[in-house]
Amino acid sequence: MNRLNWGDLTPEKFLNEYWQKKPLLIKNAFKDFNDPISPDELAGLAMEEGLESRIISHQNKTDWQVQHGPFDSFDQFGEQNWTLLMQAVNNFSRETHSLLSNFNFVPNWRVDDIMVSFSTPNGGVGAHLDQYDVFIIQGEGKRRWQVGLPDPTLTELIPHQDLKQISAFEPFIDEITEAGDLLYIPPNHPHNGVSVENSINYSIGFQAPNSQELWSSFTDNLIDQNRGEQRFNDEGRKLAADPALLSPEDMSSLKNFMLSQLEDESFFSEFIGNYLTQCHHPLEILVPVTPFSTDDVKQLIDEGDVDFYKVSGIKTLFVNQPNNVLHFNGESFLLDSNSVSAGQLLANEACLTATVAKSFTAHLKKLTLLTTLLNKGYWYIE
Ligand code: SIN
Ligand code: CO
Repeated sequence: MNRLNWGDLTPEKFLNEYWQKKPLLIKNAFKDFNDPISPDELAGLAMEEGLESRIISHQNKTDWQVQHGPFDSFDQFGEQNWTLLMQAVNNFSRETHSLLSNFNFVPNWRVDDIMVSFSTPNGGVGAHLDQYDVFIIQGEGKRRWQVGLPDPTLTELIPHQDLKQISAFEPFIDEITEAGDLLYIPPNHPHNGVSVENSINYSIGFQAPNSQELWSSFTDNLIDQNRGEQRFNDEGRKLAADPALLSPEDMSSLKNFMLSQLEDESFFSEFIGNYLTQCHHPLEILVPVTPFSTDDVKQLIDEGDVDFYKVSGIKTLFVNQPNNVLHFNGESFLLDSNSVSAGQLLANEACLTATVAKSFTAHLKKLTLLTTLLNKGYWYIE
């Protein structure tokens, strides 16, 4: 188990002083860091259809190339000047996913994925900006990381149509990272990682919706659910002083009319919970060929020799206002007082041992919830 050691910091201090504000390097944050995935396993994933892999290469910082997976072989890339980047490795490697437990001081809905890179000497993606916060754990090998502060004078460079970089920046952090070091980079801070030797990096990437995406998805929901079809009502209207004028009163009534859709708390919480649990990367969901009945599941639990696993990387959330609702992969499951604790377990835990699963047999509602999630392929039996 790789456990984050904050040294003089605490998660609380980190949130106050660094989160979204200032880059940070914690040397040896993970003592005796154990790589949860090997370069060979990563290469194996990059050979699979449907996963998101890229190889970025260059010749002495010129002639940048970007190739997208799946890859049949890596021989043509040689021994240096390239990096393999693989998104959402946590969706395919439970061991990699378990790194996330160190970042639980930020709620799950802010986490996007763990991207893993394998870089050969001199390999990297070049100096660039990201719109999201990222923690980068140095796994095996060494890399030189430079991180700067936001600087409006930096210019965007596009050395290849699939690669955005920025001009040279003044580093605020400039260090060789070694296994177990942890780097935090806030959004829009220039950074550049260049490998010193073959090296693995784990990027815990966060997500933050923008207002445009939220509004657009919210209105899609209104349409899907045939809501908001009633027309503006202005009963009690006063005489118009100037017929060509859109009065401040009318303007504010129209705005409030629109906002009233947002104020329906159950509708909003259903929308936002589903929105935030949509996964933007491929997942390993296997729907059982023959659906389980609650009796089947009860029998399996009673027999006591199965463990239940949640699909690695699947997004889940628990909402307790105004209703108790479990959100899973963009869907919602209403809980009642008998199933709340089961819902919380299913949202929080990656695995239910046969002993923990026993508590689900005490109430049909709990058993039904687990059965539904098994039948959707969001949990599975091993
Ligand atoms: C990496 O090369 O491992 C991380 C890329 C990045 O800086 O976003
Ligand atoms: Co980056």
